[in-house]
Amino acid sequence: MSFILNRQLMFVLIAAFLGAGGLPAVDFGKQILPVLEKKCLDCHKAPYEEDGRVKKPKGGLRLDAAWAMLKGGETGPALVPGNVAKSYLLEVVTLPKDDDMFMPPKGDPLTADEIQLFKEWIAAGADFGEWKGNMEGAPPEVAAPAKSAEPKPREHDLLYAELEKDLKPAPDAALEAAKTAGAQVAPLRVDGALLRADFLTGVSRCTDDKVAALAGLKEQLVRLDLGRTAVTDAALKSLAGFPRLVALDLRQTEVTDAGLAALKDLPRLQTLNLFGTGITDAGLKQLAELPSLKQVYLFQTKTTPAGLRQLAAARPGLQVSGATK
Ligand code: HEC
Repeated sequence: MSFILNRQLMFVLIAAFLGAGGLPAVDFGKQILPVLEKKCLDCHKAPYEEDGRVKKPKGGLRLDAAWAMLKGGETGPALVPGNVAKSYLLEVVTLPKDDDMFMPPKGDPLTADEIQLFKEWIAAGADFGEWKGNMEGAPPEVAAPAKSAEPKPREHDLLYAELEKDLKPAPDAALEAAKTAGAQVAPLRVDGALLRADFLTGVSRCTDDKVAALAGLKEQLVRLDLGRTAVTDAALKSLAGFPRLVALDLRQTEVTDAGLAALKDLPRLQTLNLFGTGITDAGLKQLAELPSLKQVYLFQTKTTPAGLRQLAAARPGLQVSGATK
């Protein structure tokens, strides 16, 4: 009798062990970030300007960067890796709906599945993968980690080193023109010629002509954030031919399928964010032809799951993030 019980117990234990081991890890970029973008970031992102007024993150909490989540808001850390009970971020989404602190206070609440994913992700140590999020406003130790912990050259560093070879710094006049147009331009690497640019302090004022004013930085521009700006397809035309542009953020802009054709003239474009745009499956066909594309974000677009699957099949190795279910 006891022999049989033990056998059964063993079996249960083995099944439990296999079950746990077989559980796929939650992928932050694919499963958590899109939920934050859709249901939280409107109120919890870096200060931005709207209708001439600066909007600050609610409760002092930003959820648009890994460092910011760990730092938390007025009440302290929003996220404690490995500790579900101490992660305030999880608590507020599971409160009764009539609680003052229930999040989000407006819009769709998290689904049971989403809450479960958040739980598993936090319990497993809240791994952000490669994602760092918006480094604007990050404390210096986060923005530039101590030298002693010199990381191995990452893929990006190697790429940047290659792009920087024999590159001359941008002319002062070109930097000045970009600044006048409202762009914030910063070196990508300390003392390097490569540049990144965004319009985060005045998204509503960033129109196509402002993007055209970046023409003088054509050789040096590597990362460009046009997210939530007023740009249209015309802006993409003025970027065509930028030889070193690696990452382009077009989230929540008016760009259309037709406009994506101009991106074919970006030989190094690897990362493209089209979150919240009107891109359809027709646009995906254009994306399939972008020579260097490695990663594309397509949540909240007009694409269909079938279209996304087709793109993934046409371009093995391309990371397609979108609702494929
Ligand atoms: C419509 C705006 C809005 C949305 C969307 C929203 N929040 Fe909030 N959030 C607020 C406001 C307002 C506060 C401050 C409430 C207070 O302190 O009484 C807050 C506070 C918080 C806090 C507490 C911060 C602190 O340290 O005091 C957390 C955690 C939080 N939100 C998480 C989330 C999460 C997670 C989501 C997405 C599921 C989300 N919020 C979506 C408006 C929003």
